[in-house]
Amino acid sequence: MDKLIITGGTQLSGELRIAGAKNAALPILAAALLSEEPVTIGNIPHLHDITTTMQLLGQMGVRLTIDEKMNIEVDCCEINKFEAPYELVKTMRASILVLGPLLARYGQACVSLPGGCAIGTRPVDIHLDALLKMGAEIKVEGGYIHAKASRLKGCKLVLEKVTVTGTENLLMAAVLAEGTTIIENAAKEPEVSDLAHFLNAMGAKITGIDTGVLVIEGVEKLGKKDLYYKILPDRIETGTYLVAAAITRGKIKVKDVRPATLDAVLDKLTEAGAEITIGEDWIELDMHGRRPKAVNIRTAPYPAFPTDMQAQFTAMNAVADGVGVITETVFENRFMHVQEMQRMGANIQLESNTAICTGQKKLTGAPVMATDLRASASLVLAGLVAEGDTLVDRIYHIDRGYDHIEEKLAQMGATIRRIPR
Ligand code: EPU
Repeated sequence: MDKLIITGGTQLSGELRIAGAKNAALPILAAALLSEEPVTIGNIPHLHDITTTMQLLGQMGVRLTIDEKMNIEVDCCEINKFEAPYELVKTMRASILVLGPLLARYGQACVSLPGGCAIGTRPVDIHLDALLKMGAEIKVEGGYIHAKASRLKGCKLVLEKVTVTGTENLLMAAVLAEGTTIIENAAKEPEVSDLAHFLNAMGAKITGIDTGVLVIEGVEKLGKKDLYYKILPDRIETGTYLVAAAITRGKIKVKDVRPATLDAVLDKLTEAGAEITIGEDWIELDMHGRRPKAVNIRTAPYPAFPTDMQAQFTAMNAVADGVGVITETVFENRFMHVQEMQRMGANIQLESNTAICTGQKKLTGAPVMATDLRASASLVLAGLVAEGDTLVDRIYHIDRGYDHIEEKLAQMGATIRRIPR
């Protein structure tokens, strides 16, 4: 397995382009299953999860053509298998996103249950309950969800919890359903809105985008000739590099971003002492060489502070001035990075879903590893400020969600290199 080795101590500076959003690209590629016409999706990030999604669609008979600019043409006219096998779902939970579109367009789907994962139990009961309400027949057997429907029926769905992929699956199911579906307590994440805009570009009738209530008037079929859709920029990648600059007391400019999707993160960076300047599609962060101040954070669904930025801010609090309290409310077990940071000298106390960090003047490099994507990224950030070398193991997690992380950090002055297995 590849590893990253980071020698801490450099202040990051420079400019960086941000890639398309992983968590928008995954549902949008799944949504292409709904299209009667080939569709081209642009600004696709260069990530393992994208390769897995292409494998997932490819084994169904979908034809995928990718060009050097990471535009993917998806052609579903020869699809002959309606399954998401365990081998793929176990490496990428987002595979569950094919359930809604397969059921809506082909009337059948057989999708492996995702099971538990490093950050919590992550059930899919809300997806399944709502599909049942829309008239699907669902059996869970042998670790697989077997779903069937002649045509799904629109109805009112009140989601018990805000769920991102749940809202996305139901949106994709509802666009071809008979009648109107109303999804209340829908997720408002920008990636959900991006999917909704993509579906509308294919001919769907969705209103209430960006609000917690989505209204979907079902149509007979979807697809538009020569449709090209560009994925929105990745707000979590953006936030991760901004924290990398803040933690190293540096100054960077990130380009090709959508600043409005980062309000909660930028507020916390400002509170930590960063000077933030915003343009139409760029953000500049300048610490003026100062040590960050500790901040208190409570994660919650969008537009509140994202759980996907929690680990990175934990790394920042570990070296910040003061005591910062971080409360994780979205996932039950998302502090896997804390023990590893403690091994680097961080002073963090865990009390159920809260991490109390007393900032230290320095961390020391150590061999570390993590079991999920954002936790792994946070260890790289900690490595950027630690004295000596930090060796981050199991970086396949990072490759799932960060496009060329070592090249991007090195471009801003970090001493980082990949050690191939
Ligand atoms: N939940 C249920 N039942 C369900 C669905 C969700 O109880 O049927 C619970 C979950 O267990 C969790 C909460 O609801 O406690 C929210 O989970 P959600 O369904 O929103 O998470 P997700 O859709 O599985 C997406 C992102 C995650 C991100 C979360 C929260 C994708 C592919 N994944 O996951 O991204 O953390 O939303 O914003 O969009 C990442 O990129 O590193 C990542 C983990």
